[in-house]
Amino acid sequence: MKALVLAGGKGTRLRPLTHTSAKQLVPVANKPVLFYGLEAIRDAGITDVGIIVGDTGREVREAVGDGSAFGLDVTYIPQEAPLGLAHCVLVAREFLAGDPFVMYLGDNFLVGGIRGLVDAFRAEECDARILLTRVAEPQFYGVAELGPDGEIVALEEKPEHPRSDLAIVGVYTFSPAIHEAVRAIRPSARGELEITDAIKWLIDTGHRVRSHFVTGYWRDTGRLQDMLECNRIVLEAVEPDVAGTVDGLSEVSGRVVIAPGAVVEGSVIRGPAVIGADTKIIGSYVGPYTSIGEGCVIEDAEVDYSIVLADSAIRGVRGMTHSLIGRNAEVTKATGVPNAYQLMIGDHSKVQVRA
Ligand code: DAU
Repeated sequence: MKALVLAGGKGTRLRPLTHTSAKQLVPVANKPVLFYGLEAIRDAGITDVGIIVGDTGREVREAVGDGSAFGLDVTYIPQEAPLGLAHCVLVAREFLAGDPFVMYLGDNFLVGGIRGLVDAFRAEECDARILLTRVAEPQFYGVAELGPDGEIVALEEKPEHPRSDLAIVGVYTFSPAIHEAVRAIRPSARGELEITDAIKWLIDTGHRVRSHFVTGYWRDTGRLQDMLECNRIVLEAVEPDVAGTVDGLSEVSGRVVIAPGAVVEGSVIRGPAVIGADTKIIGSYVGPYTSIGEGCVIEDAEVDYSIVLADSAIRGVRGMTHSLIGRNAEVTKATGVPNAYQLMIGDHSKVQVRA
């Protein structure tokens, strides 16, 4: 069995971060979302992995390399434009050959791995087994409707009026029959070849399609709130490990990871939290559910429930919460101009200030 991982696409919902970098590489507890998926694939016993890449392909290749760091053998498959999830299957035709495969959306975050799904697919011969879970806002996802015996009776992509609360999770298993399906369908109203339509085609043409329920936690990390929630979930289980330097005036409590080369001086770190390598935390408070990347400086500041990417600085700022700060960014206190905000914000940014 092979795996096809989708790491191309547009990433419009996480702009401006995704103007310059792949959304699948935004870190959760200081590790790219994509890496969790690659580890889940390996843990399910699959080593032959094709990764679909688009505009941000170079960055994905740099991060994942040949896959050996994960125990995987990775082949990169360029997609000329994000023409849809089913289009990814089309362009991966040669790599997939006649093998069954698991398709994993690189921005999906799933706790508990995919072994259950893969084992169920292997155990009962079928052409597709899809993952489902109940969600509060099904209109943002592919939605499945089940019959009285649990069989799939209908599938719809992001319906305005969903007929159930069962979202299609971005991990699918397919037999080679899917290749005929992706060739048979036409682009949707949003101009994409939808995998949901291809699965619908399988059902309509009498192929065997089964479903499987997610047992653990799942999120599509496309939106800020979901990123922060995934970060919270991973941090809740992080193994404490203080490898960096913490001075006698600091207080570190709860589940906290302080990477080698990090320095904590005169600060309070209340876990769960992770502090990346070579980061300096000086005279600051880092509160629960916070991940600070490598090479950052947090000085005279208070941060909690946030993700800060590598090489950024936060100085003299209180009460920073529910925030996602990109790479090489700076948040500092305005000097000389009392009660004023001085902002230089990139395109498509979102900033909430206390008015
Ligand atoms: O997250 C689950 C949802 O994923 C499902 O419920 C939907 O049925 C399914 O269509 C998909 O919806 P999204 O709109 O969230 O998909 P998105 O465009 O965000 O793409 C998912 C991943 O695939 C993302 O990592 C980018 C990558 N991708 C996407 C497209 C359209 C590609 O590599 N190439 C593409 O052409």
